[in-house]
Amino acid sequence: MQELSLDTSFARSFFPSLSSGFVFMDNAGGSQTLRPVAERLSDYLLNSNVQHGASYEISQLAGARVYEASQHTRDYIHANQLEEIVLGPSTSMQIRILSLALSHAWKPGDEIIVTNTDHEANVSPWTDLKKKGIEIKIWEYNPETFQLELDDLKGLITDKTKLLAFTHASNVLGSINPVKEITKYAQAQGLLVCVDGVAYAPHRLPDVQELGVDFYIFSWYKVFGPHFALMYVKKAHLEKMEGINHYFIQSSPYKFQPGNVNFEFAYSLMGIFDYLEAINNHHFEQAPKGRLTYQKAFDLFTQQEEELSGILLDFLNSNSDIKIIGNKKADKSKRVSTISFVHEKLDSKEIVDQVDPFRIGIRYGDFYAKKLIEKLGIEQKNGVVRVSLLHYNTHEEVKRLISIFDGIFK
Ligand SMILES: Cc1ncc(COP(=O)(O)O)c(C=O)c1O
Repeated sequence: MQELSLDTSFARSFFPSLSSGFVFMDNAGGSQTLRPVAERLSDYLLNSNVQHGASYEISQLAGARVYEASQHTRDYIHANQLEEIVLGPSTSMQIRILSLALSHAWKPGDEIIVTNTDHEANVSPWTDLKKKGIEIKIWEYNPETFQLELDDLKGLITDKTKLLAFTHASNVLGSINPVKEITKYAQAQGLLVCVDGVAYAPHRLPDVQELGVDFYIFSWYKVFGPHFALMYVKKAHLEKMEGINHYFIQSSPYKFQPGNVNFEFAYSLMGIFDYLEAINNHHFEQAPKGRLTYQKAFDLFTQQEEELSGILLDFLNSNSDIKIIGNKKADKSKRVSTISFVHEKLDSKEIVDQVDPFRIGIRYGDFYAKKLIEKLGIEQKNGVVRVSLLHYNTHEEVKRLISIFDGIFK
């Protein structure tokens, strides 16, 4: 039986910006925003923008709206309890809050492990704890395979190691790390595990229970929503962790949400769930309910993204001047559709500058994965060229980019 594929025209009709003719391929920087997200946002602001917790009708409505969104969010990442969902402004800020909350219980000489493939959002909040006498160790990727190897991690853990921070998918390499396996091993050694899911979440549906992680963070502006972020904190840790809110606010998630959450952004997330349900209902006759609906939509996205990656990677692999920084194959079990490369003779900026006039948004740089770019020794080349595709990109768009690259590389 032929596999059902994503109706891209249908998907694209939910993103008003895509009809402008501009080609968006810097999606790992931020995705385009769904119309239903903007509509929910505007509805909240125009019809229920009051303080929560009062007895009057609109206050009750506002509270119910944010509660509904939080419940959907809990279901979305498959968390067990609502109190495990901490909402906040950005992944960078969420991990800062986490490092503050956790480090109260740590003492000089305790150790933390970070990687040299992560975005700084999951590095600096931990390495800054050096000021408190915390020792930092770096888990380095294997330069041949671009993978983090479990054997290399084993040598870094001591009885003083408190936490391992790593990424679900690299925002430069595109590689997917085996989070479940790594987490199982690290937790068996007594470590807490903090995973940055930012570069993974736009491509696959995270399942925090399946992964078994202690902390999982990602940003909604990469997943078709607003500049807003989610942090999952496993229930077992909630009580022990010191909050950062006023002394009389001790319950979770509120103790990690000083100044409260942005209500309109929280409610706007409903637009993402609306979209995933619409995708499901458009493609499948028997619409399953809840999380399964989202999974079915993401399965279609994954298939589309693997196809698009295959077309681009085939082209890049066929040019001997090009080195893919990451996995060379489009295999969906190993990578997401974030594809980075360097050209033997051309600077990365030079390439992107020549693409810009064609109204295709791609990008060069280090993408804040500073340690990775330093290790690769490509700062002088202005880092990598990154083409980051999402399910709403089309075969035609990728082919257009390839024909432009072809002209530049000749
Ligand atoms: C992998 C990764 N982690 C973290 C971040 C930071 O997210 P935020 O901008 O929400 O702080 C980014 C941003 O690009 C990212 O790509």
